[in-house]
Order: sequence, then structure tokens, then C-alpha cells
Amino acid sequence: MAEPPVSIHNPNDDDSSNQRASPQQQKQMEQAYAQMKRKMSMQEIGRKIKHKIMVLSGKGGVGKSTVSTGLALSLAQQGNSVGILDIDITGPNVPKMMGLDGRRLHVEEGRIHPAQGHLGVKVISMAFLLEDEDTPVVWRGPIKLGAIQQFIGDVEWGELDYLIIDFPPGTSDEPLTVAQSLPDIDGMVIVTTPQDVALLDSRKSITFSESLKVPVLGVVENMSGYTISGKTAASSEVTIAGPGGKSHKVSSDADGNFSVTLDIFKEGGGKDTAEEFGVPFLGALPFDPGFVRGGDDGVHRIVSEPEGESAKAFSKVVESIIDQIGESSSEGLEII
Ligand SMILES: Nc1ncnc2c1ncn2[C@@H]1O[C@H](COP(=O)(O)OP(=O)(O)OP(=O)(O)O)[C@@H](O)[C@H]1O
Ligand SMILES: [Mg+2]
Repeated sequence: MAEPPVSIHNPNDDDSSNQRASPQQQKQMEQAYAQMKRKMSMQEIGRKIKHKIMVLSGKGGVGKSTVSTGLALSLAQQGNSVGILDIDITGPNVPKMMGLDGRRLHVEEGRIHPAQGHLGVKVISMAFLLEDEDTPVVWRGPIKLGAIQQFIGDVEWGELDYLIIDFPPGTSDEPLTVAQSLPDIDGMVIVTTPQDVALLDSRKSITFSESLKVPVLGVVENMSGYTISGKTAASSEVTIAGPGGKSHKVSSDADGNFSVTLDIFKEGGGKDTAEEFGVPFLGALPFDPGFVRGGDDGVHRIVSEPEGESAKAFSKVVESIIDQIGESSSEGLEII
């Protein structure tokens, strides 16, 4: 068998300077070493976090961050250890929703440590890097994606049952970078509202998931219906004028209490999209002004009303997601 060529460095050899790495080679070796370390760290993180779930939507403002934080809190309510990674560089608002407004990044021995929000949920957000929350970070292309990779590789999450990853709107580079960096992503949750344009965009997200090779766990319809309650004569019928001139007849109970959920946009859009694409419908979340207040005062709806209708709706969605995770296994992307 032919011996492999061996290069022996002889310190007495006058020619030895030819064997030394040039500064450029040295830099390349350092970069390769750093990349290898990061890759190993990502694999280690991948092992320590049992389940990783991406939250996406085609359209902005449909409630991804509300859903991400709600899912995280609902899972934590059920006794799981949970983290949220807020990937939105230009408009990160997860810290605000988790009562962590104004936090700065905490680094110890070269590792980034997450902040702990409501119910002990660990949070890492690009907002922790901002000097001033009103000034958005304008990072483009490779710099932004490099920062995301670093954020994934250098965070000390510890052991987690679930990591929820909140994205900016659209089918851009961020989900691809995360899917390439983090091994074994369980799948993605697509958030939509019942409006046509949001539905159309969520269809784009489903098609996009195929190119990411991350399975779609299902569609969540957010801002779906508004529940009103009231009191009238016992066991009587009330007629309520709903949106679009539609009237609703409701019966009150023996104490005179009644409640009805009105579809403020359109009925069942999320369910229709899910059916059309053959992906599961994970459930509907009501329109609840408490989410907006919670976003402003830093106390999430699930924390301010843990037994409320919205918390119940979230726990049903969590149940459906857990069912889906049990059934699907991610093919994932090869880590490069
Ligand atoms: N179910 C709901 N009921 C009432 N308000 C809601 C609901 N879901 C979200 N909101 C409100 O809608 C606004 C947008 O929500 P959110 O920030 O979660 O959307 P997003 O999809 O993450 O937005 P972006 O695309 O900018 O990241 C917020 O003010 C939030 O409080
Ligand atoms: Mg958001």
C-alpha cells in the first residue's frame, strides 16, 4: 500500500520558513476552528433541547410573537422547561411581552445567558443587544445571518423541554439559517388570521416549509372571534347584532348569564387553509384586547388570567402541537 506523503518539519532546516502558515492561512485556520467549535456547540445545544418549534407567518402583524410567547407560557404552565429565541432583529418585541423590557445581554465566560421571564421561561432576543429600543438594527445579508448563527451557537440554554423560535414576518433567510444551524427541528407552526390576505400569505409559508425540509406542525388561526358576555332575564333569548349586520340569537342560563363568540373577520379561514394544504389545524385563538394591554404593560395575558378563555385556547393549541410532534419526525437539513 502506498504511504501517504509526509511532511516533516525540521527546525534546523533553513527552508523551514516555507512550511510556516502565512497570516492569511493562519486566519483561515482560526476561522475554520471557530466554525467547527460553533457547529459542535450547536449540536450540543440540539441534544440538550428536546423539542424545537419555529413560529412563522407569511404576513406581518398576525400575532406570531403573541402566539410564540403564549405557547411558551402555556407549556411552562404545564410544568415544562421552556425557552424563547426571538430572531426578529428589526422589531424584537418578545422581551416586552415577557416582562423583560430594557434587559441587556448577560455574557459569562464567553457564553450568552438567557434572561428569565414570566413562569421561568428563558428568553434570548436581539432586543437585548439594542442600545435604544426605538432604534432598529439595520443589518443586512451575511452580517445578520452570522449574528443569528452566533446567537444560536453561543447561548447557554441548559436543558430545555421546548425551545420556541419567533421569526420576523415573511419567508426570508432567517428561517433557512436557523433550519441549517439547529439540528432536529420538530416543525413549524404557521400563524394566520381569518382575513384573505393573511391566508394567502400563510399558503406561501407552507410551500416554503417544503423547501426548508422542516415539517409543518399545523396552522393556528389567531384573532378568531370575539367573545362577549352579559346578563339578562333568566332563561330567555337575546338577539345580538354582530359584525356585517348578522344577528345572533343566544339563550341565557338560569342565572341570566349569556355569552357568544362573534366572528369579527371571517369564519374558519385557518381551517380551510389547513385542509387545502393537507396540514393539521391546531386551533383558534380568540381576539382578546388583553393581549394588547399585556404587550404594553409587560404582563402577558396567560399570566394575568391563567384560567381565562385565551389561556384555555392556548392550552388546546399546545395539546394539538404535542400530538403532532408525537406523529411527525423532522428530516431536518444537513448541517453545513
Ligand atoms: N388574539 C389577539 N387578540 C388581540 N390582539 C392581538 C391578538 N394577537 C395579537 N394581537 C395584537 O396584535 C399586535 C401584533 O401582534 P404581534 O406583535 O404578536 O404580531 P407579529 O406577527 O409578531 O408581528 P410582526 O410581524 O411585526 O413580528 C399586537 O399589538 C398584539 O397585542
Ligand atoms: Mg413579532
